[in-house]
Amino acid sequence: MKTRVLRVSRENPDSTIIEDAAKLIRQGELVAFPTETVYGLGADALNAEAVEKIFIAKRRPADNPLIVHVSSKDQLSQVVSEIPKIAEKLIAKFWPGPLTLVFRRAPNVPKNVCRDLPTVAVRMPSDSVALALIEASGTPIAAPSANLSGRPSPTTAEHVLQDFNGVIPLVLDAGPCPVGVESTVIDIQSRPPRVLRPGGLPPEVLLDMIPDLQIPPAYLKASEGMVASPGMKYRHYSPECRLILFVGEPRKVKEKIDQVFMEIIAEHQVRENQLRILCLYPQVHEHQNSNIVKRLGPKLMDVQKHLFQALRELDVDGIKVAAIESVPEKGEGLAIMNRL
Ligand code: TXA
Ligand code: MG
Repeated sequence: MKTRVLRVSRENPDSTIIEDAAKLIRQGELVAFPTETVYGLGADALNAEAVEKIFIAKRRPADNPLIVHVSSKDQLSQVVSEIPKIAEKLIAKFWPGPLTLVFRRAPNVPKNVCRDLPTVAVRMPSDSVALALIEASGTPIAAPSANLSGRPSPTTAEHVLQDFNGVIPLVLDAGPCPVGVESTVIDIQSRPPRVLRPGGLPPEVLLDMIPDLQIPPAYLKASEGMVASPGMKYRHYSPECRLILFVGEPRKVKEKIDQVFMEIIAEHQVRENQLRILCLYPQVHEHQNSNIVKRLGPKLMDVQKHLFQALRELDVDGIKVAAIESVPEKGEGLAIMNRL
């Protein structure tokens, strides 16, 4: 299959292009489209066969349910059996936007969308292209992030092609996603309500409306110090690159990174140009070869926006070991640490 990439402007989405894409959705095909968080891999949420294509294309485990995207409250009513008061309030304040809510599922939602759960996760994206596509399709759109399972979520159309070129008929390209991490998922059915996934909307902003909201820590408690020796966590997000997360006070972290990198080079496991440091402040690492230091920050918003791009670049650039600095688990930091 040839994958078409059509450029659409967010300011003024071209209606012929949107109609092309909507037609594919109505025909039960997959379309990758931009949202404010990450690119989604969309299918008609009310068509079980179309939804199944998502699981096959992504090689997604069958027990992982999908988020349904709507463009109006009418569409929300089509997929949920009830809208609790707290949801009404959250919707009024945060939709459209990067907040996904878990509702009771309406009977007409195919089982494979929610993997047999009695619930369905729904969000209304704020991206104008996404909203135009859902509206033109005339149906809610089920869409996970448009990446192969286990790979970083895509924040550009190019990332989508890295994983799905030749596999899906169309990618709508509106440039980089402004938020850069997936939506925040809240279970409003549980008592007390809880954060299932911290994301683009920092969970703390919900505390005004849900004072007993449960916010599980994303990771190690970076902000609480890890004083003497910095904590380290290893992660193999790709077969090629080992990512090491360093948690602790910045100067200690710098020393530890230096030591670990020296050991790695000394053992001849990898060459210097196969190492990388992903950091907030490059000045801290100025003694290192500048080619291996890559700045993600300094603002958490910037780290959030560029994180997935930076992770994908590790593979593209043939990096074998990357060190990444932790950030405090506050505001955007919670979503960032959750992804590492
Ligand atoms: O920002 C986003 O949310 C992006 C864009 C494309 O909208 N989508 C996305 O989808 O990240 P995905 O499939 O990669 O993540 C869906 C998350 C998973 O953590 C899944 O477990 C959870 O939502 N989820 C979906 N339905 C659920 C349900 N009924 N109950 C609990 N969690 C659910
Ligand atoms: Mg995903």
